[in-house]
Amino acid sequence: MKIYGPQNYQYSYTPLKTQTSFTSLKLKNDENDFSDTCFYRDIPTLLQTTKLLKENFPNGTTIMDFAASNGEETISLYSLLNRNNNNKYTIYGYDKSDRAVNLGKKGIYTVFSEKSNDYFLIPECHYSKQINDKYGMIKELRRCFSEVMEPTVEPNYKINDPHYIKILQKSPYFQLKHFKLKDEVKDKIKIEKGDINNIQNLLPERKVGAIMFRNAMYIETGNYAINEFSLNEDLNINKKEIIEKIVNKVYDKLLPGGLFIIGDIEKDHIYIADNHVKDKDKYFIRNYGVAICKQPLLWNALEKDDRFEPVFYKKVDSPCALREDMKVPTIWRKK
Ligand SMILES: C[S@@+](CC[C@H](N)C(=O)[O-])C[C@H]1O[C@@H](n2cnc3c(N)ncnc32)[C@H](O)[C@@H]1O
Repeated sequence: MKIYGPQNYQYSYTPLKTQTSFTSLKLKNDENDFSDTCFYRDIPTLLQTTKLLKENFPNGTTIMDFAASNGEETISLYSLLNRNNNNKYTIYGYDKSDRAVNLGKKGIYTVFSEKSNDYFLIPECHYSKQINDKYGMIKELRRCFSEVMEPTVEPNYKINDPHYIKILQKSPYFQLKHFKLKDEVKDKIKIEKGDINNIQNLLPERKVGAIMFRNAMYIETGNYAINEFSLNEDLNINKKEIIEKIVNKVYDKLLPGGLFIIGDIEKDHIYIADNHVKDKDKYFIRNYGVAICKQPLLWNALEKDDRFEPVFYKKVDSPCALREDMKVPTIWRKK
């Protein structure tokens, strides 16, 4: 396996660029503060997932999207997989947050910030001429989106945190648009309450072709990004144990050749060493006053007993305090 992990790092300080805000849902004073998401987040991984699923499961399969938040990620993958209404792939979006799931079930979504990855979904946006069509996909993504979503009016309930919106509104490019699922797909995208730790009890009658758990392992393990590290992080949490339990369950639930798709942010890959990590297994990063695990705990758990192999790498999303150009494996295949 090609190693892009910490063992290859020069531990030099890289100044962070302004962090992109991708938020379309911000929960405050809720059971957690981390339900941020957007449509078509991490496009390279979504496109590659679509390609691999079509190759490995040409007759269709079931996909379980955990940590789906209010379902923007689930809708995005659905729109790519079932392009031109092929309808072979069934997707369930699960999240453990009641509030995110309730919003998802209501089926109205917002797009509003030029800093978000999904701002291109407002074709008339003032900013649109400046959007860098890095993957040459904007036109096609807009088309896929319009196959499943249509514009709608503001509902009589709040979707986004009003204080957060107030700040973003100061931008001349701010433009809030509402979308809803088209009637013909409403029943095909299921957003349910579900915890990945309980995966064995969900859809117990079947194994599945893909499981997503993107940008959420850091929540399960209480892991911070290195530059976010604070003395409040609970270092008594045994991150390795939590990760291994989840990986074991994911392995059991997947069909052979099935995919496990993880996030592209630093916190899902680089783990701050907890009190259970031995000194020989950690590095101390002086600039941030924090020790990190030499081996990414999630990669180790996936490679253990030769059960998974990484099949797709992409550039880490910011913030990455170690190296901005670090590559992380976001798609793993069950051997
Ligand atoms: C930062 S959001 C990521 C949303 C989406 N996956 C994305 O990448 O845009 C993290 C979500 O993970 C959910 N979550 C955390 N732990 C979970 C678990 N064990 N099972 C299901 N959802 C979980 C949280 O409730 C939150 O909505």
